Amino acid sequence: MKMLPPIPRKEIKNFEPYLPGRSVEEIKQKFNLKTVYKLASNENPLGSSKKLSKTISKLIKDLYRYPEGSSKILREKIAQVYHIPYEEVIVGSGTDELIELVGKTYLSQDENIVVSEHAFIRYRMIGELMGCEVVSCPMKNYTHDLVGMAKKVNKKTKIVFIANPNNPTGTYNTSKELKEFLTTLIKKSVSPIVVIDEAYYEYACQQKDYPQSLKLRKLYPNMLILRTFSKVYGLAGLRVGYGISRKEIISDLDRVRPPFNVSTVAQYAAVAALSDFQHVKKSVSLVIKEKKFLYRQLEIMGLKYIPSAANFVLIEVSPFKGQEVFNELLKFGVIVRAMDEYNLPYHIRVTVGTHKENVVFINMLKKVLKKLTV
Ligand SMILES: Cc1ncc(COP(=O)(O)O)c(C=O)c1O
Repeated sequence: MKMLPPIPRKEIKNFEPYLPGRSVEEIKQKFNLKTVYKLASNENPLGSSKKLSKTISKLIKDLYRYPEGSSKILREKIAQVYHIPYEEVIVGSGTDELIELVGKTYLSQDENIVVSEHAFIRYRMIGELMGCEVVSCPMKNYTHDLVGMAKKVNKKTKIVFIANPNNPTGTYNTSKELKEFLTTLIKKSVSPIVVIDEAYYEYACQQKDYPQSLKLRKLYPNMLILRTFSKVYGLAGLRVGYGISRKEIISDLDRVRPPFNVSTVAQYAAVAALSDFQHVKKSVSLVIKEKKFLYRQLEIMGLKYIPSAANFVLIEVSPFKGQEVFNELLKFGVIVRAMDEYNLPYHIRVTVGTHKENVVFINMLKKVLKKLTV
């Protein structure tokens, strides 16, 4: 008998995988380049705190051991930094794992999730994976329309995902908007989990009207706040992020969480990273300064961009397709992101790099646009 391959669940049939940014090594080899600039995954161009190497080298002798399963030292550190109980903290293999975990823990097929059009794509993906309805709300000025999203929430809504600021648009919702949104849900007598994804918190909290989400938990307890060590802390390669919520939600997530989801190195590195305020300050200052540089250059070139509260900028390159510009930039050794999967076919997203990287990006973008014009 010929053995047929197994059939995946019906939700997997049309499931599109997440497309990660292209790697430096791949592009070096493909185009035979010595230097490649990766401005594709919103990483910190300054890397991680210099204070981490000592912490990490001490751990090498114990790599044969499993990590401490509950990530106690890191949860304690987070609880201490934010003055919250330990039971209100969970850590995951990146916030990505926590997005998946909240979906796996709470979603059933007869329920829905509410997301914003052009929102970070992993929310939609977990809804699809769990076979529930994904209700999408159009954006207003490239920003989550929280009034519109509140209208879409009904009795069957289990989770609302809000990326604040959003990737890839870089836009954010103000404290007033978020408060009004939560108040509307309460008035409607609905209480879905509201996931506030603050992966770019350290950059965005520089804005005066950016919400203090931790305080809003009093108004709306069914909130799950997500933050990460992948962005400003420069630890994307270690995969570590955290969630803050009421203890009942944390306890549910914890029961579904894989037992050793955060490595020992990641736990200790994250603890050390949380203590290096100077590195965070320096990284945020660089992004503020360099965003101004990029904005000015884009204005000179006559390109439209969306002012960003994060460490990346969404740029409109019409009449050219984002994919064309992306492909041409690769040949010059610059990796950005095309935005087709976000239904933004005429945009690219660029991570704010060091000044040198940003200068190279602008120069190469000029070359590419000139080449495409003739
Ligand atoms: C809005 C947002 N949320 C979550 C993530 C996932 O980050 P990580 O899993 O590295 O913590 C990203 C990564 O780009 C993001 O942009």
